[in-house]
Amino acid sequence: MLKPLFTKNEIGDAVKRLASCIENDFGDEEILFVCLLKGSFIFLSDLIRCIRNPSTVDFMRVSSYGTAMKSKGEVTVTKDLEESIEGKNVIIVEDIIDSGLTLKIIKKMLLERGPKTLKICALLDKRARREVEMEGDYVGLTIDDGFVVGYGIDYAEHYRNLPDICVIKKDK
Ligand code: PRP
Repeated sequence: MLKPLFTKNEIGDAVKRLASCIENDFGDEEILFVCLLKGSFIFLSDLIRCIRNPSTVDFMRVSSYGTAMKSKGEVTVTKDLEESIEGKNVIIVEDIIDSGLTLKIIKKMLLERGPKTLKICALLDKRARREVEMEGDYVGLTIDDGFVVGYGIDYAEHYRNLPDICVIKKDK
């Protein structure tokens, strides 16, 4: 059973708040938005349309949970960025911070490429699940533990198309 947690209007308000914070911090500087696929593609699309700074986008795909051969916490880059980020204002756009492992590794990887600034913008923050120290610079909504889907977030690749963010509850 799917139980709505945030409606599309509530998500829209959170996205506008995030966009406004980013605009305030960056003045009229150019920003490169790095979208972590797949879960962040809808969030990125809405966020960048609320931001008036000169902007570019690039995409990165990582598998964060590995296979049976790899321990959790290892990240494999399956699609890397196409642009150099050296000397640029970079904002990583992430749908959800859970254990924090994905972003911790990606942040370290991207910092080694010499950006001018590197920030993290996450729509959802599931703080109770954190396993490593990881703070988003711009965080939209904080949630408790529980499996969420919708607005780009999947369960077994489904539900990404839901306009609301919902919690999956077991049927009784
Ligand atoms: C999810 C989510 C984040 C990551 C967060 O991605 O989109 O990228 O996990 O988890 P963490 O904080 O515990 O590392 P997933 O690997 O499910 O891929 P997807 O975005 O393609 O759905």
